[in-house]
Amino acid sequence: MAHSTVQVLECDPASIVFDASEIPTVTCPKTLDALQRAARHLNSQQTVAFPTETVYGLGALALQSDAAARIFSTKGRPPDNPLIVHVSSMAMLQTLLPQDYSISKTYAILMKHFWPGALTLLFPSDPTKIPPIITANQPTVAIRMPSHPVARALIAITDAPIAAPSANSSGKPSPTRAEHVLRDLGDKVGIILDGGPCGVGLESTVVDGLHPDGNIRVLRPGGVTVEDIERVMMQELDDASVPKVLVHRRDYRDETQEQVPTTPGMKYRHYSPTVPVILLYTSSAPNPASQKMGTVEFLASLKTRVPDVKATLQIGYMAPSDSSLRPHFISAQDIQWRPFDLGPTADLAVAAQRLFDGLLTLDKEGVDLILVEAVKEEREGLAVMNRIKKAAGETVWLRLD
Ligand code: TXA
Ligand code: MG
Repeated sequence: MAHSTVQVLECDPASIVFDASEIPTVTCPKTLDALQRAARHLNSQQTVAFPTETVYGLGALALQSDAAARIFSTKGRPPDNPLIVHVSSMAMLQTLLPQDYSISKTYAILMKHFWPGALTLLFPSDPTKIPPIITANQPTVAIRMPSHPVARALIAITDAPIAAPSANSSGKPSPTRAEHVLRDLGDKVGIILDGGPCGVGLESTVVDGLHPDGNIRVLRPGGVTVEDIERVMMQELDDASVPKVLVHRRDYRDETQEQVPTTPGMKYRHYSPTVPVILLYTSSAPNPASQKMGTVEFLASLKTRVPDVKATLQIGYMAPSDSSLRPHFISAQDIQWRPFDLGPTADLAVAAQRLFDGLLTLDKEGVDLILVEAVKEEREGLAVMNRIKKAAGETVWLRLD
């Protein structure tokens, strides 16, 4: 692949510190130079890919429609899918909000505990401030303050809010390393800031707290868990005033929202590598045992599931390190296994951090098929399963034999 124009600039996140007034100091000259170059690029209406704690983002000036339009063309993103606006300070947030808007108690608590961090909040959008291309003409605007020092310093030095979706072609898994961005969009972006691998590994939690009933609606599960949100609400409020935390499609449906793609990832295909992905359930399968397939039978069927069968099938296999399925698989003959470890079952944050990396790495290695084992839908596992279900073209329930 030719990357004739793209510059990949290394940044050292540890060399960036924010003071109480939310202004960054950058002690590494190379990092400062990279940030300043990227800020100039943004201010000349161009896009820059940069690391956040969740995934790499493709940034452009949020308040300049022409700049924001470049995001859509670079990603091949449908124009009716709105963008998240990233800020580096509370003062910058204020500049985006309607004049008469005052921040609710619920939002104040969420921001106190999770900002900067992997939480996106919906606010009423003032169309005289936020261009319609950002909100896709929705009445709300999604805003977050990232905690990654490179992301936050880039916004502060650019001195403007930055719109940034994940830095992948529309429909592909989100990038968690600079090399993922280079491979996918390297011929379409001018600058990629490389701040190392992302710590959270999947996108921010998108929360709508604007409903008149006062409850918190999770539109997209992500880096901040539902359990963490519930815990801080219990901690900060009297029992009687603790809002419910409702997860879209688990606890409620919203017909009107499902018509538009603002319910994140509902309308469009998502997170799919070029090779087919199969989601595997074993013990906790919500399916009668009679419909489960034996592992031997399943492995024998793999050849028929691959479009171009090679002499030896190469199967990517993403599973927890203590998976009970693993021993049944790895011993199978005639298959070249490429295991990708999702960490211990008990530590779902590791699975979150590694999921997209696994899909993208196995895809790049040229496997014929990727098998992903289901994890528990709790804590970070809720977001992990949300992404796997969207990536998988097929689901299989297995009986261990
Ligand atoms: O962690 C993240 O959120 C990353 C990093 C780069 O910050 N960004 C990211 O952006 O995941 P993107 O565009 O890939 O996903 C944003 C999601 C979309 O599914 C979109 O539908 C939803 O947020 N969204 C944006 N504005 C919205 C709005 N006004 N109402 C409802 N959903 C909105
Ligand atoms: Mg995305």
